[in-house]
Amino acid sequence: MSAKLIDGKAIAAAIRQELRERIAALDKQGIKPGLAVVLVGEDSASRVYVGMKEKSCTELGIYSDHHHLPAETTQEELLGLVENLNADSRIHGILVQLPLPDHIDENRIIEAVSPAKDVDGFHPVNLGRLVIGLDCFRPCTPAGVQELLVRSGVELSGKRVVIVGRSNIVGKPLANILMQKAEGADATVTVAHSRTENLPELVKSADVVVAAIGRAEMITGDWIKPGAVVIDVGINRVEDPAAKRGYRLVGDVHFESASEVASQITPVPGGVGPMTIVMLMKNTVTSAEKALAKRGE
Ligand code: GUN
Repeated sequence: MSAKLIDGKAIAAAIRQELRERIAALDKQGIKPGLAVVLVGEDSASRVYVGMKEKSCTELGIYSDHHHLPAETTQEELLGLVENLNADSRIHGILVQLPLPDHIDENRIIEAVSPAKDVDGFHPVNLGRLVIGLDCFRPCTPAGVQELLVRSGVELSGKRVVIVGRSNIVGKPLANILMQKAEGADATVTVAHSRTENLPELVKSADVVVAAIGRAEMITGDWIKPGAVVIDVGINRVEDPAAKRGYRLVGDVHFESASEVASQITPVPGGVGPMTIVMLMKNTVTSAEKALAKRGE
């Protein structure tokens, strides 16, 4: 391995430290940031993610209001809960964990969350503001990817970024963040996906590759330009009889081969994952600060 490891855990810890100061300042004003986390059903990966989000709240002194609803919950019931949380002054952020069961229309739920409490940055108002460069809540994973790049000293201005994956949660918002006329951005961004022709060739043209397509170890070292920076957003379970749980976690990048060619690379786990959680905490603290500022108006 010749690439330098981008340590998401260490970078997330540095951001948590910055947040502690902001939380202490809010505490002096009598405000504790509050995050409501809503999980519907029994998706095992979602349970793990939600558990990590709650642990992070507790550790930072953010009030965490957990709602675990059965898989049979109706859309109306879920909309009712969201309405209650919108009106609850102790709650500054609302996160409804995706995916939701098939009988619930995800977009209806996302649009029901007040944009002022949409710490996931999924509401069309926040996404629209992101696209035109206005202040907004930025989706946590893309915002975390940008922080990783900036804090690892990666120059983005004028560089060619190829994002593999076009999801609403990662690919689309990340493209908008990195193409912004702004510091830590100004990149030339291409969004590729499962239908892209000559994908290996395109990826090889990139100074920065972001893999967010959800296919285990799809991007191999021979796709990477020597010296490129590789950010792996993927978390995939692959069977491994030798592992204690019977599976292991891998990214969308074949780490072993890619790390021979890249200049910097994120590991899975310990790369983007911890950043997503800390950016959620950051958005929640920002929301509490905004609520305080509004109170004073
Ligand atoms: N499912 C996978 N990633 C996310 C996320 O960032 N937020 C929510 N709410 N659900 C997710």
